[in-house]
Amino acid sequence: SKSTYILAIESSCDDTSAAVMHNNKVLSNVVAKQEIHEQYGGVVPELASRAHQQNIVPVVDIALKKAGITKEELNGIAFTQGPGLMGSLLVGGSFAKSLSLALNIPLVAVNHMHAHILCHFIDEQGYDKPEFPFLALTISGGHTQIVKVNSFFGLEILGETTDDAVGEAFDKSAKILGFPYPGGPLIDKYAKEGNPKAFQFTKPKVDGLNFSFSGLKTQILYFIQKSVKENPNFIEENKADICASIQYTIIQILMDKLKLAVKQTGIKQIAIGGGVSANSGIRQTLKQAEDKYKWKTFIPKFEYTTDNAAMIGIVGYYRYCESIFADSSIVSKARIEF
Ligand code: KG4
Ligand code: ZN
Repeated sequence: SKSTYILAIESSCDDTSAAVMHNNKVLSNVVAKQEIHEQYGGVVPELASRAHQQNIVPVVDIALKKAGITKEELNGIAFTQGPGLMGSLLVGGSFAKSLSLALNIPLVAVNHMHAHILCHFIDEQGYDKPEFPFLALTISGGHTQIVKVNSFFGLEILGETTDDAVGEAFDKSAKILGFPYPGGPLIDKYAKEGNPKAFQFTKPKVDGLNFSFSGLKTQILYFIQKSVKENPNFIEENKADICASIQYTIIQILMDKLKLAVKQTGIKQIAIGGGVSANSGIRQTLKQAEDKYKWKTFIPKFEYTTDNAAMIGIVGYYRYCESIFADSSIVSKARIEF
């Protein structure tokens, strides 16, 4: 079969990433995180695009060097067209467009959420690929979706959040507890030492396969405010139990919907993706579902969970193989459909 080298670029939010793919294998996957946002409690779009502009050239250079190939050996360039922050998307998009023109090689536009799902098709030792059709639960800082994946390009959204994304539920809860942004990984860390049933939060009642997380956030805020009023050291003294209880509630909400999706579709192959799929509690619960519910579950390699260009590269590769190219009139889109 043909040998294809694709450079992939991801710049939808606050991570600047470049990857080089050889067919469905990752040769390099470089991610520059932006620490500047920590102090602001969330991503500041203006600062994100500025940092992307500073990082993009060195990140691409390092990715090529690590892959051991030159620009001239590339067959195509894939980039994130959306969804994401417009100022951030434009940096990666303009860079990719210019490079494809300069090298006279095809440009491939990729949907970021599509990439969080198809990251399971990256060829990695020890990782099985799902078979079609399967259900994907994509959980990130901006999205929460259950998608029926019929084929590489046949995706059907069965449910999604009506307000906050799961990642926001983690990050906003963390902010209430005084943790820096993004607080999701910290909740995960402290939860490991805590009792998940120490504090009870009620799960939202949402129809069908849709989600809602803003009510949970408010519930946590009131609970913490009330508890701190009674005991100023409440957070410090109960950090692990609070984090474990919040994480447990979020996992229950996700699992309830997954169980319903399996019941409605009869599909028992479940793949998770997106930054929140890095969460150790979610990974463990899903693994246990293999025995408990006889599901086959797919949990991405850690480096393909949070935003990275390798996942853009795998979609880029499949689109390249189908000759689905973008022309130079392509524009970045903050919102985009599959
Ligand atoms: O996919 P991603 O890198 O960016 C978006 O496309 O949004 O996801 C980032 C989100 C953040 O909300 C972050 O707090 C969350 O993923 N996250 C986690 C963990 N690692 C990252 N949430 C819970 N536990 C983790 N271990
Ligand atoms: Zn993402």
